[in-house]
Amino acid sequence: MRTLIAGNWKMNGGRAILAELDRIAAAAAAAPAVDVAIAPPFTLLAEAAARAGGVVIGGQDCHSAPKGAHTGCISAGMLVEMGARFVICGHSERRAEFGESDALVRSKAHAALGAGLTAIVCIGEDEAERDEGRALMVVAAELEGSVPPNANAANLVISYEPAWAIGTGRTPTLAEIGEMHLIIRAKLLQLIGEEGARVRILYGGSVNGTNIAAILTCPEVNGALIGGASLTADQFLPIVQAAANVSQ
Ligand code: 13P
Repeated sequence: MRTLIAGNWKMNGGRAILAELDRIAAAAAAAPAVDVAIAPPFTLLAEAAARAGGVVIGGQDCHSAPKGAHTGCISAGMLVEMGARFVICGHSERRAEFGESDALVRSKAHAALGAGLTAIVCIGEDEAERDEGRALMVVAAELEGSVPPNANAANLVISYEPAWAIGTGRTPTLAEIGEMHLIIRAKLLQLIGEEGARVRILYGGSVNGTNIAAILTCPEVNGALIGGASLTADQFLPIVQAAANVSQ
């Protein structure tokens, strides 16, 4: 499995941030062993896709319907037309801020796959669930509820992102990450059969150039989804480089 290093720019960046993408694209070309992806805001998608080179560009959300009266929303087909090749579904910020349920996340991912996109489906416990010892159970249930029936190894990526580790500088221990990823792998095999063995499982939450190498040594960690540290080439490229070193 090729390691995937994906950046989620969230609601950050005007057109000036595309200069960072140019630098990321140039460096990614020199690290061919690693897949590099960026999800910019919708407003930058087309221009990002046009100048991304080998960096794969994707959206951060989509609607489950192909079109219709859904003010403010974007369909999977619209993302494709802008040059997106993947979409993040069910990020914890969408689950928390917009009340997205597993069923809704699954329907969005289903629409994304139907439109020819890869879906990066996010799952992860919050701090209370971790403290109460329910993290493994919560994440397994989210996975089961969020993976669409048309998923396979080529069109699905899972990202395990504990909400309490996002933007906080805190991360689970390597043992906790490995334990969770092993559960996710086992559950994927149950859900989609042998295809589940080859679905990439990313870790997300306070990943940076210093901790990425150790995180990539955890079992069943096939890459990372990065928020804050993906916004500048200076912070993102050491992550790509470390991943390339581990992959060699
Ligand atoms: P940070 O890397 O800023 O913690 O965000 C992680 C994340 O939410 C990626 O989707």
